[in-house]
Amino acid sequence: MAILFLHPDTFSFFFTIFASLVLLSLRHPSAAAVCQAPPVIFNFGDSNSDTGGLVAGLGYPIGLPNGRLFFRRSTGRLSDGRLLIDFLCQSLNTSLLRPYLDSLGRSRFQNGANFAIVGSSTLPKKVPFSLNIQIMQFLNFKSRSLKLASTSNLSKGLFISQDGFRNALYMIDIGQNDIAHSFSKGNSYSQTVMLIPQFNSEIKTGIKKLYDNGGRRFWIHNTGPLGCLPQKLSMAQSKDLDQHGCLASYNSAAKMFNQRLDHMCDELRTELRDTTIIYIDIYDIKYSLIANSNKYGFERPLMACCGYGGSPYNYNVNITCGHRGSNVCDKGSRFVSWDGIHYTETANAIVAMKVISMQYSKPQTPFHFFCRR
Ligand SMILES: *[C@@H]1O[C@H](CO)[C@@H](O)[C@H](O)[C@H]1NC(C)=O
Ligand SMILES: *[C@@H]1O[C@H](CO)[C@@H](O)[C@H](O)[C@H]1NC(C)=O
Ligand SMILES: *[C@@H]1O[C@H](CO)[C@@H](O)[C@H](O)[C@H]1NC(C)=O
Repeated sequence: MAILFLHPDTFSFFFTIFASLVLLSLRHPSAAAVCQAPPVIFNFGDSNSDTGGLVAGLGYPIGLPNGRLFFRRSTGRLSDGRLLIDFLCQSLNTSLLRPYLDSLGRSRFQNGANFAIVGSSTLPKKVPFSLNIQIMQFLNFKSRSLKLASTSNLSKGLFISQDGFRNALYMIDIGQNDIAHSFSKGNSYSQTVMLIPQFNSEIKTGIKKLYDNGGRRFWIHNTGPLGCLPQKLSMAQSKDLDQHGCLASYNSAAKMFNQRLDHMCDELRTELRDTTIIYIDIYDIKYSLIANSNKYGFERPLMACCGYGGSPYNYNVNITCGHRGSNVCDKGSRFVSWDGIHYTETANAIVAMKVISMQYSKPQTPFHFFCRR
């Protein structure tokens, strides 16, 4: 972790985490070797977990300062460094997931593939790169892999096997754009809330399709506090702010979406035999990050590090991060928001540690549960 970049308060926070990890590994001598064989991972979602799919798929340029902190070049991730999914992969000592659409650079997908694309939503379902389309891409990936593996013994090890697909972890993180699009089209809170069952139903359909194709292990992230994003705060017409300065109606819609998603996971656990479905409360993690931002060394939790316009949000729709005229802060580690929509690597690292802590998981399950033994 980028300790060198951290504020003293943040440092003490990371030090505490570090110390408890050391203690943990002392108590469990095998902890370091806990994931001998990481699971194959397939991920579906939007920019929160896109590791380069938009750039690979559409050639849309995403340049520096994106990536400046960790990769030191732009990888197509919308952040200064790693995303939550990168930290989750690293926690299992597996390589970072490559975008399915990345056709260059020895496209090896032995550890899985990432279908997430910036801007994706559940609806409308027939346009790239909705959840439905991402799952169709996955089905194509699966049948191609199995076919190629069967053509010669030599190529067998290069492709994911039937077993690999069955034991894989299927991760979904989508819905933020569905809610956001509804508000940005001018829909009211109650109009937006009325659409939520349709968004959730798309996710349910997606999980069932993966199940029908052999998937048994699912890791579902709920959606974060949309109303705390500097972009939304700077653009919303009516500002119904809550005690931490976030848009109450946007957050309330996100919570409504999450309630149904949670309930849907409950239903699917009984409906689909032999499944493990873990629901993660990303909302709670991210909101508490904003509510307790000082504790983590963040100075302005509602202001973007990279953007235009300065205080209070440093966001301007015409001059977004990386575009001509935009400015970027010196220390991303003091900001929750990187570009007004996406989190900084420092914030993502904290979110990841909380996800791994199991305190926000239902049922409480360690991420390394999915390692093959
Ligand atoms: C992580 O993987 C590398 C290479 O695959 C291996 O050398 C190392 O021992 C692994 N570390 C842990 C903690 O499993
Ligand atoms: C692959 O190897 C098995 C035995 O290891 C052999 O029976 C089979 O014919 C081989 N298949 C091909 C396509 O070479
Ligand atoms: C962005 O550009 C449009 C069109 O030029 C303009 O109408 C709008 O006011 C601008 N928005 C901001 C926040 O500057």
